[in-house]
Amino acid sequence: MAESNRVLIAPSILSADFARLGEEIMEIEKAGADWVHIDVMDGRFVPNITIGPVVVKAIRPETKLFFDAHLMIDDPAEYVDSFIDAGADMVTFHIEACNDPVAIIEKIKARGKKAGVSIKPGTDVNALSAVISRVDMVLIMTVEPGFGGQAFMEDQMDKVKKIRDNFGGYIQVDGGINKDTARVAIKSGVDVLVAGTAIFGENDYSKAISDLRG
Ligand code: DX5
Ligand code: ZN
Repeated sequence: MAESNRVLIAPSILSADFARLGEEIMEIEKAGADWVHIDVMDGRFVPNITIGPVVVKAIRPETKLFFDAHLMIDDPAEYVDSFIDAGADMVTFHIEACNDPVAIIEKIKARGKKAGVSIKPGTDVNALSAVISRVDMVLIMTVEPGFGGQAFMEDQMDKVKKIRDNFGGYIQVDGGINKDTARVAIKSGVDVLVAGTAIFGENDYSKAISDLRG
């Protein structure tokens, strides 16, 4: 567990009402969210297209919450600056999408921001060995990236347990997190829970967030 023992809740805006995105962001802040998880997809690295820096820029003034940008895109190095310029506080890229992860991490840190690295369910956790000592966060995907509302892949907790004892940064999971799977993730050593459906699919966001925190 990084820093404090309090698990952090990062609602994924992928499941928010995009016609009222600014209001949704203010509502999750009022409801006790810690971070805003921004799922960026390019239709190439994953079979879906979502948002880009222009939307991050638009919502930045709506909240003081920490912006956690999850780049599910090819060539993430090309877009680090534009997401940071738009207001991202952390940039997480996929190890599968680049051939020089150290350079990307250095680029993010040179801008004074937090660097995260993510692996898909099919990627072995050993793929992180060259970078794990350099990043602020590891994101272990608990669904195949691309869409919200999928089922939690419990076997991914083996990866969390494998890195937990030797990694002092944040471990984040993303996909299929609800009040039941959150318990499994927290028990495995996860620090940050990303949830889209389990929060934005509910009427009472503060209850949804406190249910996840347990
Ligand atoms: C997958 C997306 C989803 C989303 C959360 O690429 O990244 O995991 O954030 O989806 P839910 O919480 O609805 O499973
Ligand atoms: Zn995500």
